[in-house]
Amino acid sequence: MSQDKVDLTSLRREYVVGDLNLEDLNTDPFDQFGIWFNHALDIYSDEATAMTLATADAEGMPSARIVLLKQYDKEGFSWFTDYRSEKGQQLLINPQAELLFYWPQLARQVRIRGQVEKLAPEEGKAYFSQRPIGSRLSAAASCQSIR
Ligand SMILES: Cc1cc2nc3c(=O)[nH]c(=O)nc-3n(C[C@H](O)[C@H](O)[C@H](O)COP(=O)(O)O)c2cc1C
Repeated sequence: MSQDKVDLTSLRREYVVGDLNLEDLNTDPFDQFGIWFNHALDIYSDEATAMTLATADAEGMPSARIVLLKQYDKEGFSWFTDYRSEKGQQLLINPQAELLFYWPQLARQVRIRGQVEKLAPEEGKAYFSQRPIGSRLSAAASCQSIR
């Protein structure tokens, strides 16, 4: 398929949301995340929890998709997914990933990289059982969020 190159270089945005200075940041990155995440929740409500999860297959080919942050603490950041999904299979082989939050109105991104571990099965079951029935059925039908 041939298409003329679409030139987007004239689209510009003036970034006026303030500076990022090391001395203004919390020394604990988890605490800093909490401050920024609460700002994002104020603006975006639940949409603030959308994050890009990047994984790679055995050949190093990357893939990325949106998942929703469901829990976080100083131990890590959790989401729910199906182990049988592509990301689930990739993480079995290569349990390393990057999470990326982007909150446009804050002109802010947060990148989190590290090892990925399965949560205890009880945590997944507890999450699944508190979801509304329609959501549980749709998750089961689409092979999503069953852990
Ligand atoms: C707003 C939004 C939220 C999503 N949240 C999740 C999620 O929490 N968990 C999940 O497994 N997939 C979620 N998805 C679907 C994934 O982006 C992805 O399409 C699906 O999990 C299959 O990914 P994979 O084939 O790379 O494993 C979400 C998609 C969107 C657009």
